[in-house]
Amino acid sequence: MNNEYKVLVVGNGGREHAFTWKLSQSKHVKSIYVAPGNAGTEREEKTRNIDIDSSDIDSLLNFAKKENIDLTIVGPENPLVKGIVDLFTEHGVKCFGPSSDAAQLEGSKSYAKDFMKKYSIPTAEYEVFTDHDSAKEYLNNCSYPIVIKANGLAAGKGVTIEENINTALITIGSFMKDETFGSAGKTVVIEEFLVGEEASFIAIVDGHNILPLATSQDHKTIGEGDIGLNTGGMGAYSPAPIITEELHEYVMHKIMRPTADGLIKEGFSYRGFLYAGLMIHNDEVKVLEYNCRFGDPETQPIMMRLESDFIELLESSFDNTIADFPISWKKESSLGVVMSSKGYPEKYKTGYAIKNIDTEKNSIDTKIFHSGTTKNNGEIVTSGGRVLCVTSLGDSIEAAKIKSYEAVSKINWDGCYYRKDIGNKAIK
Ligand code: AMP
Ligand code: GLY
Repeated sequence: MNNEYKVLVVGNGGREHAFTWKLSQSKHVKSIYVAPGNAGTEREEKTRNIDIDSSDIDSLLNFAKKENIDLTIVGPENPLVKGIVDLFTEHGVKCFGPSSDAAQLEGSKSYAKDFMKKYSIPTAEYEVFTDHDSAKEYLNNCSYPIVIKANGLAAGKGVTIEENINTALITIGSFMKDETFGSAGKTVVIEEFLVGEEASFIAIVDGHNILPLATSQDHKTIGEGDIGLNTGGMGAYSPAPIITEELHEYVMHKIMRPTADGLIKEGFSYRGFLYAGLMIHNDEVKVLEYNCRFGDPETQPIMMRLESDFIELLESSFDNTIADFPISWKKESSLGVVMSSKGYPEKYKTGYAIKNIDTEKNSIDTKIFHSGTTKNNGEIVTSGGRVLCVTSLGDSIEAAKIKSYEAVSKINWDGCYYRKDIGNKAIK
């Protein structure tokens, strides 16, 4: 492997900043381009932001060809579902991620549920509806709570948990008739409500083999104590103590392996991150959802724990030797706290100057990953709902938590919000 690698990272979130940070440490990497990136990515060594939107796959291809990019790494789901990997592959340009067919595991909830049913992968009971009246009739006769999911991509907002028929009817009206999420909500999945604790199981798949990565847990809701609206994730830590060795084996055997085999049987080529969102209850594990990408904010603590070279790791998936890759992890735990804009995940304002982001230096144990940030007249200002993910390593989750919150307490902007209970579930 040469030491002149040119890498293109697609996306602009904390996940992509963590990829960039890790890539910049690789001896193989000469330059990194992030499209479009954020105020944090462009500060990393060897890195430049490129003004191309992450879903503009034609412009991304032109850029990769013009710059002779050796490897493109795709962060978000949109370009994957849109077919970025198919397009790059057609033109002989190397791109890490699944094909658009395979990305339907995330792009269509009904596809994912039917796939799980077909390959006996444990998941909640469900029905799929394309007709509003049939969905209404079903909701009139089911027991509550129940979960309603918009079929297509809805930026993490297309899932609601309904406590009663009245709110459930309002939701299907808004999804199916008012088309709040456009065509993504015209079909809905209505499924059994599962209780338990969630964990994120993320692996690299090379078409056939599977390499599980460090385990993690995310905090999905906006409110402390896991209440309120769902978000993209308000904080995460790794490892996840709930995934015992036994459970790990079970998940590999009953979920990840059958998923990879099912993808092969469907005739798909799946090279990329494969993320199973799990619900665990009394030793019973069910899949809530698949993502065809790395999680955000799970990436941030996981990248901090990754000791291996990230380029060597990804390259081995192109040689179909991923299962033999000698992956190594720091033995420390890691924990990231998301700092967000007031109002997120609903309406919020942007453009606020972030105080102390320059004076608050990254230390060897703490890294401030940027998400919704941009530069304005030389100042770093907020530009999204999730703004930063302050992530630390420590001898335990608790030690990492203390370090992260110490750094968080020094950073501020008008309307800054964060949960104060990240990691509590793991510190019992
Ligand atoms: P999804 O995008 O399908 O993972 O759903 C987003 C979030 O909704 C999950 O992380 C869970 O917190 C919650 N959720 C989804 N499906 C269910 C279910 N069947 N039972 C309980 N909670 C669920
Ligand atoms: N943190 C959950 C996700 O990336 O979907």
